[in-house]
This record gives sequence, C-alpha cells and structure tokens, in this order.
Amino acid sequence: MKARLRFRLNGKVVETEVETHWRLLDLLRDGLGLTGTKEGCGAGECGACTVLCDGEAVNACLMLALEAEDREIRTVEGLVGPGGRLSAVQRAFVEEGGAQCGFCSPGMVMSAQALLLEDPDPSEERIREALTGNLCRCTGYKQIVAAIRRAASLRRSEAGEGERGEAGGEG
Ligand code: FES
Ligand code: FES
Repeated sequence: MKARLRFRLNGKVVETEVETHWRLLDLLRDGLGLTGTKEGCGAGECGACTVLCDGEAVNACLMLALEAEDREIRTVEGLVGPGGRLSAVQRAFVEEGGAQCGFCSPGMVMSAQALLLEDPDPSEERIREALTGNLCRCTGYKQIVAAIRRAASLRRSEAGEGERGEAGGEG
C-alpha cells in the first residue's frame, strides 16, 4: 500500500509516494537514490544509517518513512556546501584520518554533526558518549574523537569569521 509523504530533505521540500512499510532508510537509498546513508545491522545497533531528523541523530533503519512527514531530514549528502565544499565536520574527518571505511564513516559524521549542533565545544567524554551508537570494531575511535574536536574548533572559528564579517559590513 502506498501513501503520500511531504518532508524537507537536505534543505529542499520533497513530495513523494512511499510504500507504507518502508523505513526511512529504504526511502533514502532505494526511493531517492541517496546511498550515502548505509545499512549495516538494520536493527538500530550499528549507527551506519544515522541521519538527522530536526537536527537530532536518528537511526534511519528504525524510523518509518511516513514518520518523516513535515520533518527536516539531513543526510551526509546534505552536509556538502555550495560548490561541493565539504562541511567542517567532513573536512576534519579527512584531515585527522577519522574517515575510516565507507560503512561506518557517514554515520559517524552525522552523529558528530548532531553533537556539534547541540554542543559547539564538547568534552572528550561527551564526544565518546555521542558515538556510543556508532560501532566500529576495526580501528578504534581515537582519530574519530580527534576529528570531532577539530571540527568543533573549525566550526567555532568559521562562526567567528562570519560574525566579524557581519559586524564589519562590506567596507
Ligand atoms: S543499520 Fe541502522 S543502526 Fe545499523
Ligand atoms: S566499521 Fe568502518 S572502519 Fe570499522
């Protein structure tokens, strides 16, 4: 059975038809071709499918697509800025070697993004806590934690530059 769905995805309004049993993950990957969001466990345990729903990290494998009605969903594709410029979080993951395999990295990046929206200067403890839903048993979390600390600092300095620009005006 199908139903209509209207929501915002990466800043744009999407109106589409979905199977009522589809998970948000099915809609993103199979319905809309956004394959940056990965499916690992499919059971809410690995965090590979993490996206933002109204700014909070959620598991797209546990959410029905229809639950996105009137919400703002952001996927890893939606972090990239104008001209393909990577977001501060993405740049920091690359620079600190925190981008590990293609399965866990998108989810880690989205959890980091959600954390920094809530807390622009998180402690290491808070960072590790925010990553508890994102599993990687391959290489450890050291570089990922370093990447999130770097992302926090990049975001703060970019926000400061924006404020100085506004205060200074065009002249
Ligand atoms: S695929 Fe969603 S938590 Fe693992
Ligand atoms: S699951 Fe991605 S590096 Fe371990």
